[in-house]
Amino acid sequence: MKVPLTSSIAGLNESATLAINIRAREIRAQGGSVCHFGFGQSPFPVPMPIQDALRDHAAVKDYLPTLGLPELREAVARFYQQEMNSPFSAEHICIGPGSKELIFQALFVLETAVLIPAPSWVSYGPQAQLLGKPVYTLPTRREYHYRLQADVLEQVCQQLVDTPKLLIINSPNNPTGAVYGEDDLSALAEVCRKFGVIVLSDEIYAMIDFTGQSHQSMAHAYPEGTIVTGGLSKSFAAGGYRLGVMLIPDPLCALTKALQTVVSETFSTVSAPVQYAALEAYGHFDTVRSFINQTLEIHRSVAEYVHARFIGMGLNCPEPQGAFYMMPDFQNYRASLAKKGMTSDEALCHALLGEAHIALLPGSSFYLGPEALSARVAFVDYDGGDVLACWPGKDALTTEKMTDFFPHIIAGCDRLEQYLSLL
Ligand SMILES: Cc1ncc(COP(=O)(O)O)c(C=O)c1O
Repeated sequence: MKVPLTSSIAGLNESATLAINIRAREIRAQGGSVCHFGFGQSPFPVPMPIQDALRDHAAVKDYLPTLGLPELREAVARFYQQEMNSPFSAEHICIGPGSKELIFQALFVLETAVLIPAPSWVSYGPQAQLLGKPVYTLPTRREYHYRLQADVLEQVCQQLVDTPKLLIINSPNNPTGAVYGEDDLSALAEVCRKFGVIVLSDEIYAMIDFTGQSHQSMAHAYPEGTIVTGGLSKSFAAGGYRLGVMLIPDPLCALTKALQTVVSETFSTVSAPVQYAALEAYGHFDTVRSFINQTLEIHRSVAEYVHARFIGMGLNCPEPQGAFYMMPDFQNYRASLAKKGMTSDEALCHALLGEAHIALLPGSSFYLGPEALSARVAFVDYDGGDVLACWPGKDALTTEKMTDFFPHIIAGCDRLEQYLSLL
């Protein structure tokens, strides 16, 4: 039977990150060995206090209020005040089944064009497309670690003066590992204020920041126009729990009201036991603080290792400052790759998976041109439970321990180095 699908789905496929994960798992299931730099999920176990809270609340079966358990909304607001220096209170908080869904719902209710820097996370564009919103990708430069510059934003805003605009900024960044600093954010805030741009500040990696600076957010530079998102998925290592938060300031409270309506007519509320687990994470943050600090140190050690190896191979690659990603390009190998018929990032990633068994995602999945020959590298392919249990501290990390802890990461770098040396 011909299935009459809505036209907005045309040309969209399963998200590239999920698809490559499935392909890599298939190769492994067939006995092949893949160094999986494709999928960005926390490798660590969910901290015990959060698991315990989930278990302890398995019997809670009543529907909770649409925007979330009141105690959880209080706890999230307190957490953002104390840990992120972001002045939100309970009525500003919406709880949803992952920040991805909350972003989708916000895009649904906001009648705006969507501005995203290129590169950006894979899902913003398809979400906007599903909702029939125009998307404008704003160019960035490797020299600025692909951070959006205020003059570029200003130019686009001038072309779209009469169009309501939503800008999505993500820091620490997936796919580049970049972290926006105070100066970047205040320059962007000035332009946003001038043109009345609403900002969605995706801070899902907020606690995986290697810079040592205090948390920097558009919500500090531009509090009146910034919506913040976060959740349990990355630092709390509980992506599968599906709990995200959205923080909406007073001047945008019409959005909160609209979300309440849409949520009540769609997913209703997040699973009750999961909200109690989140209450433990946000409400008793001190019980997981050492987990967060230790896993941050592990992410940072791997980031430094992988970055040094990639630079050693002659690749262009800004140093990751947070999250668990970086974005090298293979432009220094352009001529040798072209001789083998590889003139696009997709052809390159396809060859790397097929011939060297290394899974990378092409930069074009993140809105870069295929000729940029860029790829996103996620460096979380290791057994986080084992590493965490035996972690000696960054300063005591020997080469031997690195090999024990991160065999796929090291093998992936070795294979890539060998592949490039034979081109
Ligand atoms: C930049 C970015 N934003 C949002 C999300 C979605 O996170 P959640 O699990 O809260 O839906 C991800 C997940 O990969 C991400 O990388």
